[in-house]
Amino acid sequence: MQSGLEDVLSANLKIKKMSKEKVYIFDTTMRDGEQSPGASMSVEEKIQISRVFDEMGVDIIEAGFPISSPGDFEAVTAISKIVKNSVPCGLSRALKKDIDACHESLQYAKRFRIHTFISTSPVHMKHKLDMSKDQVLEAIKESVSYARKFTDDVEWSCEDGTRTDLDFMCKTIELAINCGASTINIPDTVGYSIPEEFAKTITHIKNSVPNIDKAIISAHCHNDLGLAVANALAGLSAGVRQIECTINGIGERAGNAALEEIVMAIKTRNDLMPYETGIKTELISKASKIVSNATGFPVQFNKAIVGKNAFAHESGIHQDGMLKNRETYEIMTPESVGVKKTSLVMGKHSGRHAFKDKLSDLGYADVTDDVIQNAFGKFKILADKKKHIYDEDIVALVDDSLIFDNKLNAINLKSLKVFAGTGEPQRAEMTLDVFGEIKSTVQTGDGPVDATFKCIKELYPHEMKLLLYQVHAVTEGTDAQATVSVKIEENNRTTVGQSADTDTLVASANAYLGALNKMLIKREKKAPSQQIKHQKVRGI
Ligand code: KIV
Ligand code: ZN
Repeated sequence: MQSGLEDVLSANLKIKKMSKEKVYIFDTTMRDGEQSPGASMSVEEKIQISRVFDEMGVDIIEAGFPISSPGDFEAVTAISKIVKNSVPCGLSRALKKDIDACHESLQYAKRFRIHTFISTSPVHMKHKLDMSKDQVLEAIKESVSYARKFTDDVEWSCEDGTRTDLDFMCKTIELAINCGASTINIPDTVGYSIPEEFAKTITHIKNSVPNIDKAIISAHCHNDLGLAVANALAGLSAGVRQIECTINGIGERAGNAALEEIVMAIKTRNDLMPYETGIKTELISKASKIVSNATGFPVQFNKAIVGKNAFAHESGIHQDGMLKNRETYEIMTPESVGVKKTSLVMGKHSGRHAFKDKLSDLGYADVTDDVIQNAFGKFKILADKKKHIYDEDIVALVDDSLIFDNKLNAINLKSLKVFAGTGEPQRAEMTLDVFGEIKSTVQTGDGPVDATFKCIKELYPHEMKLLLYQVHAVTEGTDAQATVSVKIEENNRTTVGQSADTDTLVASANAYLGALNKMLIKREKKAPSQQIKHQKVRGI
């Protein structure tokens, strides 16, 4: 039973908690993030990512740039159909056809946002747009008003904002709000600003734009000088209430402000930044892995929050301190971002039920029975080969099963034997099921991986270019599973395949086949809308 005083105190605490100002998290992993050179995601992968974002509490998901490609259009459409909590958003230039494509792809969502932008800096207006200030103002009026015909949630961005004349910027913002924009985004497009300056820009906007109280100010900071997160947080202190960011900080060139860093900085230093984001931080690690798997972009070991070493303590002094009290060297717990302590989990005698419980523990409560069955089969095989099976092994297996939905695969590995070592050229013998036909070959190569990939090319001839081949160990020890990522390219389209196995060469073959199967699916896909002419739009 609480005393009267305790009641009052806890009520006060609740009011205090509730009265924290909200900071909206706008994720652009699938739009700006996908603009990272080489980071393309399939529609299926984007759907998977959106489900995690939706559950994680991302307020707005920028799902793509619908006019830019049939794939983007399709992804935005699919995402607008499945999100339950987040607001899906599409990007458009200041053009009616772009806005139409946004509307057409987003219309299935109960609420959606159209994000339209135009450059306002002298260098962009002159060299990129070849437009005068008056023409830019006219384009803002037309585009924002047109977008408002479809939704009352319109965001407007002044591209290259931080190199824009401040007085002109204020004029454009006032106009965009008058035309109906309710979010005004200030991009540091080229990552040029520094925190003090970015905060000053926001303060200037707040003090000079007469109707600014009718809109939320947003920050979209790039990381060219490594200051994206610092700039966005400086903006927050000056009045920004929406931050645009990406998982793992991916994005054009050096990337965008990393979602996980923004959210955990606000959470950890809530004494200085008393805001609320609504993000379920325990899902951060899962989101990071899923984005890394889909893009084939590894996360650097020392990356803040989501790097492999972010919670590792190597030096004896640190380990000793941690054993005495974890607060000696830990400002946030690994559990708070969904990193579970490595544990020795299961053995070859563990049953399907225990396996399913473990998956649920690891954040895979919602995977289908097919995926569980597939992952469980792989687990049994792994348990026969590997003495200790860790959480990371299980995660690798289930990710593998999620990505390799065998029903989608036209080409499957039946068997592989590789002869490696010194002296003779390395040789691979492979049997594949190619569209139901069993085919075998023997090839030699410059190394076992080369011989393996040559077998695939021989059994299914193709011209796709290998862009990336990468191996990392899932856990420690010589019996660790290897996760292999392979990225291939055909006609400017890229796909990524990933696979984990204790045999690096089997994982390599399966990763290559995964990328190949995805490419075959991409080849078959037609433009979803006949009315919309898709354009290659890059280098925003
Ligand atoms: O960096 C940028 O300016 C952008 C805009 C389209 C918001 O990505
Ligand atoms: Zn950007």
